[in-house]
Amino acid sequence: MKILAIETSCDETAAAIVSKSPRENYVKILSNIVASSLVFHSQTGGIVPDIAAREQLKFIIPVIEKTINDSRVDIKDIDAIAVTQGPGLIGSLLIGVETAKTLAYLWNKPIIPVNHLLGHIYANFIITTNKQLLTTNNKRLEVIGQKLEVEFPALALLVSGGHTDLVLLKNYKSALWIGGTLDDAAGEAFDKIGRLLNLPYPGGPSIEKIARIGVANRFVFPRPMIGSHDFNFSFSGLKAAVFREVLKLKKLDKQQVTDISLAVQKAIIEVLVRKTIKAALKYNIKSILLGGGVASNKLLRNTLEISSQKLGVKFFAPAKNLCTDNAAMIGAYAAFNYKKVEWNKITANPKLYF
Ligand code: KG4
Ligand code: ZN
Repeated sequence: MKILAIETSCDETAAAIVSKSPRENYVKILSNIVASSLVFHSQTGGIVPDIAAREQLKFIIPVIEKTINDSRVDIKDIDAIAVTQGPGLIGSLLIGVETAKTLAYLWNKPIIPVNHLLGHIYANFIITTNKQLLTTNNKRLEVIGQKLEVEFPALALLVSGGHTDLVLLKNYKSALWIGGTLDDAAGEAFDKIGRLLNLPYPGGPSIEKIARIGVANRFVFPRPMIGSHDFNFSFSGLKAAVFREVLKLKKLDKQQVTDISLAVQKAIIEVLVRKTIKAALKYNIKSILLGGGVASNKLLRNTLEISSQKLGVKFFAPAKNLCTDNAAMIGAYAAFNYKKVEWNKITANPKLYF
């Protein structure tokens, strides 16, 4: 089965063609293109929905055209068009959804609407030519173009710019939300704190980069809800604590910015990992899957990998280019959940959740 997937939920314009055979528990990428309006948004220090949508309007057709050309797949051999239905920015979602509907009508193909959040989790079921991180039987494998079987029940930690969720997977088709953030998402906390520290947008990769030269324990920030009895998170208190520290110090020098970055990264990751392991124990989890833009953070990948190893649980994280927004993950979800609708039966839903 071959699927053309389209993703425009935030500031990326992405398309991919993926394939899956019914007997295989993984998806192959035939082509994968992502165009980003990050250059504009690094200047504005955050995403301006209007600018994102205007750029997507410019890019959507060239990106789809290049994806199809790169894949060498004939349009008649595409079985379905998958598209992100939500959550996301309404203007951005509409561009992807309306383009998918138009193509589905013209080419007489069914549409598979996809929840962007589930897409991030299904990035773990893609084989790529980039490095993927898998840990099994305490052996660490950086594999290329090879896939190990996910064992169920699995637990996914989804950490993106807008969401932080723990999701239980009983098999390849069932996802049950067990907890999430009550306020800011982990990526949002990185981005807002990055802005406070005058670091380039997005804050996550900037904080990770600068934290490498930071000195440990010069600053210590709270780990909100780390001991709570549920699987929820809260990161707005951490942001407020950094804000107070920055106000107190008045003018930050470069070393203070790096030391604060190190302390912030540590606090966020400690909470994420502690809660994930707690849920893994409670639900007798066999595999832990990481997903979302923050999953490209090396310290988070390493810390969660080591903690999974200690539990004897398999650990999976997508190749780094599949952690941030892309269409291959949307195609992957659709390939495992092949629920087709007609072109006129889908609408963008910015508030879609689990
Ligand atoms: O999944 P994603 O590309 O978009 C959403 O669906 O939100 O995630 C973007 C988020 C941003 O908040 C960004 O700061 C964060 O992922 N991020 C990182 C890293 N790379 C991206 N956070 C921490 N460390 C990173 N290396
Ligand atoms: Zn995303």
